[in-house]
Amino acid sequence: MTAKLAVLISGNGSNLQAIIDAIHTKALDAEIVLVVSNRKNAFGLVRAERAGIPTRYFPLKPYTDAGRPRTEYDADLAQIVTEYRPDWVVLAGWMHILSKAFLDHFPYRVVNLHPALPGQFPGAHAIADAFAAFRRGEIKQTGCMVHLVPDEAVDAGPVIGVAEVPIYRTDTLETLTDRMHQAEHRLLVQSLQRLIVGDEEEIIDDEEGDAESVGHAEDGKTGKNARKRSRAR
Ligand code: GRF
Repeated sequence: MTAKLAVLISGNGSNLQAIIDAIHTKALDAEIVLVVSNRKNAFGLVRAERAGIPTRYFPLKPYTDAGRPRTEYDADLAQIVTEYRPDWVVLAGWMHILSKAFLDHFPYRVVNLHPALPGQFPGAHAIADAFAAFRRGEIKQTGCMVHLVPDEAVDAGPVIGVAEVPIYRTDTLETLTDRMHQAEHRLLVQSLQRLIVGDEEEIIDDEEGDAESVGHAEDGKTGKNARKRSRAR
């Protein structure tokens, strides 16, 4: 069954483009039902419109200007996304931390892409932080990960997929960033397909009365065992 994805972005949207392209080539059995951006000029919105995908621009500023709490923004965002009945909510360069007011609407159905290895360099400057650590001799490589977002922990949660990315002495921040993005595009598509296929296997398992066999994996080994049985819809 083709999975429905809602993709949340804040910028260029090259990872969104990777998903669009993978759907087009049938590498990914999915349909993007909605793209949301919190930034009006995010190029990802243009990419979505070109692909004929519904878009929403939903900024935080009107809420903060009105003194409304962040949880109200998150709850309203959840309502918008829920209308499209996605199977998965994909944070592909979404630069807001989501509270439980959003996450509780999609338990174990929110997927985040982060440009660092598990447990390393959380936050918005992960690639630069890794490059600086390399220059200090603290690390030899970096990487990226796709993980579930069950709670408000930043850039942490059950790991779906990991890709290691080498850093070379000749690298600049720009060359490393470029290599990271290439790795992210591949990893995000692979990880989403794994989750989608896992859903199909789960249904087969259910029919065989094997419903108790699925638990949680924190070890990066991925697959259907990496999450709980709950759906966004
Ligand atoms: C990616 O590096 C993502 O991991 C990070 O923001 C960047 C978004 O890139 N959180 P893009 O908008 O998908 O091109």
